[in-house]
Amino acid sequence: MRRPVIAANWKMFKTQAETRSFFNRFRSLASSLRHCDLIIAPAFTALAAAVEAARGSEILISAQDLYWEKEGAWTGEVSAGMIAEVGCRFTLVGHSERRHVFGETDDQIHRKLRAALAAGLAPIVCVGETLSEREANQTEDVLRRQFNSSLTGLTAPEFSRILLAYEPVWAIGTGRTATPDLAAAAHGLLRELASHAYSSASSQNLRILYGGSVKPENSAALLAEEEIDGALVGGASLDPVAFAAIAKSAPGGPLEQNRSV
Ligand code: 13P
Repeated sequence: MRRPVIAANWKMFKTQAETRSFFNRFRSLASSLRHCDLIIAPAFTALAAAVEAARGSEILISAQDLYWEKEGAWTGEVSAGMIAEVGCRFTLVGHSERRHVFGETDDQIHRKLRAALAAGLAPIVCVGETLSEREANQTEDVLRRQFNSSLTGLTAPEFSRILLAYEPVWAIGTGRTATPDLAAAAHGLLRELASHAYSSASSQNLRILYGGSVKPENSAALLAEEEIDGALVGGASLDPVAFAAIAKSAPGGPLEQNRSV
C-alpha cells in the first residue's frame, strides 16, 4: 500500500496570525495521524509562519505556485529557490484555478515543474477536466494531454518525487464530489499513463491524490479506493478539526484501527 498523503490547499485564505492559530489547534490533533503524510499549502505571505509553526512536527509545508525563472525583473513572481529557502518541501503546480482563471498553459506548467525539481522541491501536479469536457466524453484525452505535456522527459528519480492530484474542475468548490468509482477510474488512467511514460514500478509508487469538495463526510469512501492515495482539500482544510477528520479517515488511521479491534 502506498502511504496516504492528505494535503491542504488554503488558496487565498489565512493571514499569518490565522495560520499560527490553525497550527496551535492542528498540532495536537496531528499527533494521532502518523499513518499519513500531512502537507499544508498556505499563501506565500504565510509560508514562513507556517514553517515556523510546524517546526518539530511531521507536518510539511507547500507553496501553491511558483515562477520558473531563478530571479529577475518579474514583478509579483516568486521563484522555486525562494520557496525552498523558506523551508517548503513541496509546491502545487498547475492547479485548475491557475489554468482556468489565470490562463496558465501546459507549457508554462512544464517549466514550473522543471524549476521546482531543480530547486529540490517536490511538485504536486494538478490535472483534471472541466464539466463541458466530461460531458463531451473528453476526460481521457484531457488527462492524457495534461499528463504528457507537463510530465514529459523526466528522469526516473525526478519522476519519483512527483505527486499527482486529480481534481475535476466541476468538483472544486462546488460541493459536487466525484463518486469514488469515477475518481478511481481517472486515477487508474493516470497510473497507466505513468506506466507507459516511465515504468510499471514508477507508476506503482506514484501517489495520486483526489481533490474536489473533499469533506469529513465523504473522505472515507474516496480514500478506501485502492487507486486513491490521498486527498487535496480546499475549503474543508481551513478548519483544523475537519482537516484532521479527513486525515483520520485515511486507510491505516485511527478509525480503521478502532474498527479492527
Ligand atoms: P475544495 O475542496 O474547496 O473543492 O477545493 C479543492 C481544491 O481545489 C484543492 O486544490
